[in-house]
Formats: sequence, C-alpha cells, structure tokens
Amino acid sequence: MWKGLLDKYEELLPVTPETPKLTLHEGNTPLLPIPTISEELGIEAYVKIEGANPTGSFKDRGMVLAMAKAIEEGSEAVICASTGNTSASAAAFAARAGLRCIVVIPDGKIAEGKLAQAVMYGAEIFAIKGNFDQALKMVREIAEKEPITLVNSVNPYRIEGQKTAAFEVCDVLGDAPDFLSIPVGNAGNITAYWRGFKEYHQSHGTKLPQMIGFEASGSAAIVQNKVIEQPETLATAIRIGNPASWQPALKAAEESNGSINEVTDEEIVEAYQWLARTEGVFAEPASCASLAGTIKKVKDGTIPKGSKVVHVLTGNGLKDPTTAIEKSAIRPTVIENDLNQFVEAAGVK
Ligand code: F0G
Repeated sequence: MWKGLLDKYEELLPVTPETPKLTLHEGNTPLLPIPTISEELGIEAYVKIEGANPTGSFKDRGMVLAMAKAIEEGSEAVICASTGNTSASAAAFAARAGLRCIVVIPDGKIAEGKLAQAVMYGAEIFAIKGNFDQALKMVREIAEKEPITLVNSVNPYRIEGQKTAAFEVCDVLGDAPDFLSIPVGNAGNITAYWRGFKEYHQSHGTKLPQMIGFEASGSAAIVQNKVIEQPETLATAIRIGNPASWQPALKAAEESNGSINEVTDEEIVEAYQWLARTEGVFAEPASCASLAGTIKKVKDGTIPKGSKVVHVLTGNGLKDPTTAIEKSAIRPTVIENDLNQFVEAAGVK
C-alpha cells in the first residue's frame, strides 16, 4: 500500500527515526502518455500529473518533508508567501499536523480554488497589496526573527521532497527522458527535479535529461536577466519577478545542456486548451507553460523528432475555474425543462 513519500523514499531523504511519519498519501502521481499530441508533434510525450496530489499540486511533495522537519525541530507554527499552491499545501499539512499556519498572498492575484483551500484548511490568511516577491521578502524577515518555520522553497527540505518526482519519472520509464519540460516561477521545482535526476544517475545509473524550463513572458526574469518589478501573466502561479532559486535554476539548465525560456500567455492558453480537449487532461494555466514550451522547441528544432519528453503538469485545472471559463468559447445552452426543446437544441433526434 502506498504510504506517502517519507515512507517510500526514506533512504533518499533527510529523515531520521525522530522525523514524524506525516503524510496525506502525496506522490505516486500518474505519468500519462499523450498519444494524440505526441503524434502531432512527432515526439514521445508524457505528462506528470502533479495535480493528482492531495492538495492538487506538486507542492505536497516538498511540504510533507518541510512540515515533518518543522515538527521534529519543535516548531509550532509555519509561514509562507504564495501565489496559491504553496499556501494550500502548507495549510493542509499544518492542519493535519496541528500546527499554526500563516500565509501571505498577493491580494486578488491567486486563483479561486487555491483561496478556497487555504480557507477550508483553516490558515490565517493575509492578502497584501503587493506581489509574490514582496510577500516572500516579508515572510523571510519574520521567519528570521521569530520562532516560525518558513516553508517556501527557500526551506531546503522543500527541494529535497520535490526531487522525488524525478525518481518516480525514472522508475516508470525505466530511465530518465531526453527532455524534462517544466514551468518556472520561483524556480524551486526545476532545481529539485535536476537534483533528483542527478542523484538517480549516481545511484541507479539512469541518464541525465536536458532540463528545459519555461517562464511566462510577462514574468521572465531569468530569461531577461533582470528582476521584473511588476510581473504579469494570466498564469498567476508563476507571476514572479525575482525567483528565489534563480542561480540553481540557471545551473540546472547549464549542467544539463538545457535552457530557461519564455512563453507568452497566448501560447500558454493554447496549450492549456489543446491538452484538455485532445487528451482529457485539465491542468492549471501555469502548468501548461511546459507543453507550450515544447511546442516552440519542436518547431525551432531544439527538440528533435522522436525525443522522449516529460512535461510536468504542476497543478490541477480545477484550481482556477475562472480562467477556464473565461477563455473557453463553450457556454452552456440554457433551455426549458422540456424534452422537445432539448431534442431540437441538441440535435439528438
Ligand atoms: N506551477 C504551479 C502550478 C505553481 O504553483 C508554481 C509555483 C510553479 C509552477 C512554479 O514552481 O516556483 O518551483 O518554479 N507556485 C508557488 C506558490 C510560487 O506559491 O504556490 P517554482
């Protein structure tokens, strides 16, 4: 029976006999082939469905470890800044563990489902008139002075926990893929995957993939090599202008012979809708920066035909129903409760 990541990867994680066996049964997410898109692009494409985690995003992988270590170290409260998913995950694990959870979010700029989660799990929520980068600065300052554990990805246990996704990819495929395509926001996850692939390379002899990361154009600090003071993108999860793991992300790209790139909101939305309609996979907009990026890289020849490409779908599409509905041309046809009218409207006679 699956008992979560601390159980499964005990030997590969910094857990001790004193680390509590915290879990919401996170991890073990599907690695799904996407055959129609594969054929269209001439590659062998897969999606790692991180939206299948207990709170609907990859954050649970790092949060379970960060929270367990916080308890082990005697902490009674955790704090984070978030574009929504980190706060949802922190709030859930804190609820499970009985810890106080304080979250700071950019007011009006997190998807509705994520806010609903933080509310339901009972977090103390502060929405600042500012962006994620400013919220992160604030919580870092508090965590330095107060006995409150910071659970953003600057907490090293977050990265450690998140590297397990790379292990799962290798376990399912029997090796690493040629390319790992991933959205980049605060740049912790690309850092974590690269660490995971390198560790498995050492311990299991799997190969090393080329890491290709994608920022949203309006928030592409790493690509433009400058801090973006006013980051913008419809993919609010990655609306970040000063990524905390900037240097490790660059290192992952360099060492793997990969790259950090950007995709526009239009390209993200196109990939978002294509994925849902052709493969039945609904991932949140930021997640689809990975597929949008691959489409570009296949076109420009960076990804050769026949390559095996794994796309990290970081969060569940249901987190952001507003964007899904606003961007869709499909609307419910409203009719009377009348069979004849229905038959006519639906053309099902
Ligand atoms: N995709 C989703 C759905 C995210 O929520 C995030 C980050 C990323 C991608 C980018 O990952 O930051 O490791 O490069 N969300 C953070 C949050 C910032 O607060 O939930 P990253």
